[in-house]
Amino acid sequence: MSPSTGLLGPYSVRRVGFGAMQLPGPGVMGPPRDHDGAVAVVRRAHELGVDHIDTASYYGPDVANQLLAEALDPWPEAMRVVSKVGARRDETGAWLPALSPAEVRAAVEADLRVLGIDRLTAVNLRVLDTPDDVFDTALRTLTTLRDEGKIELIGLSNVRVQHLERALEHTPVACVQNQYGLLDRGGEDVLETTRERGIAFVPFFPLGSAFGAAPRPAEHPDVQRIAGELRATPSQIALAWLLQHADHVLLIPGTSSRAHLEENLGAADITLMPEHVEVLDGLAG
Ligand SMILES: NC(=O)c1ccc[n+]([C@@H]2O[C@H](COP(=O)([O-])OP(=O)(O)OC[C@H]3O[C@@H](n4cnc5c(N)ncnc54)[C@H](OP(=O)(O)O)[C@@H]3O)[C@@H](O)[C@H]2O)c1
Repeated sequence: MSPSTGLLGPYSVRRVGFGAMQLPGPGVMGPPRDHDGAVAVVRRAHELGVDHIDTASYYGPDVANQLLAEALDPWPEAMRVVSKVGARRDETGAWLPALSPAEVRAAVEADLRVLGIDRLTAVNLRVLDTPDDVFDTALRTLTTLRDEGKIELIGLSNVRVQHLERALEHTPVACVQNQYGLLDRGGEDVLETTRERGIAFVPFFPLGSAFGAAPRPAEHPDVQRIAGELRATPSQIALAWLLQHADHVLLIPGTSSRAHLEENLGAADITLMPEHVEVLDGLAG
């Protein structure tokens, strides 16, 4: 079995955490269809030992953070909350870049205000075709916010190795959050570089996303066959493969369902045999 805890900067956390993106309404906009159900999912995650939550002020906007604050009041001391800056939503729900110093600062301050906490464990700077000078300035704003005590650790998201190396010239980096999964192996070089540098690698869309934005591993026949052999679900196999693939991987699968949450946490208890790993490693990325 793969280790049950991993490192997020100096903190030991369970390797299966929780992604809050599925808590708001459809399209990650507005209130959830089932408010009490969304709050219950977060409470159940905490009850089951989740100590690492990923969120962003632009989920809702503010809705994911409101639900987290409601569910976890008072905040458990050992809960590590990670957010992101670099994007904003318009009234149509479009995802737009927001990397100016004022936008980065406003996003962190909105997280703190809505979550009702004094400091975020980590904030990921999310980039997408971002020019180097914009990246550098946004990173400087994050280091200033860290100096002010509003965030503890700095992470990156959607980055290539060049971004990581550029950032490391200025600051330690605790985590990298990139799209990656069993059937979605782009950016393996980032995974390798983070492993070499002792940086947590936190894949997003590990189950294929809610939008069809990534291949859904649970639909692959080999994954379904192995799930049957191990009396697991196909989603659990996809998550277990990620956990076994590299010890520095921390998971944040997103769900609005208690049943799925429990299933996802159960992935940590699955041991894939070498013959399973061989098949899964070989699936087209
Ligand atoms: N850095 C970035 O740019 C970035 C981008 C996207 C996401 N993220 C973060 O990464 C987290 C994970 O990504 P994600 O939530 O978009 O995608 P995901 O975890 O790949 O998949 C979420 C989808 O899978 C479903 N699901 C979850 N558990 C399941 C299970 N056991 N069986 C069947 N279906 C299941 C969810 O539906 P139900 O609600 O019905 O369970 C939802 O439709 C997000 O929550 C967010 O925190 C970061």
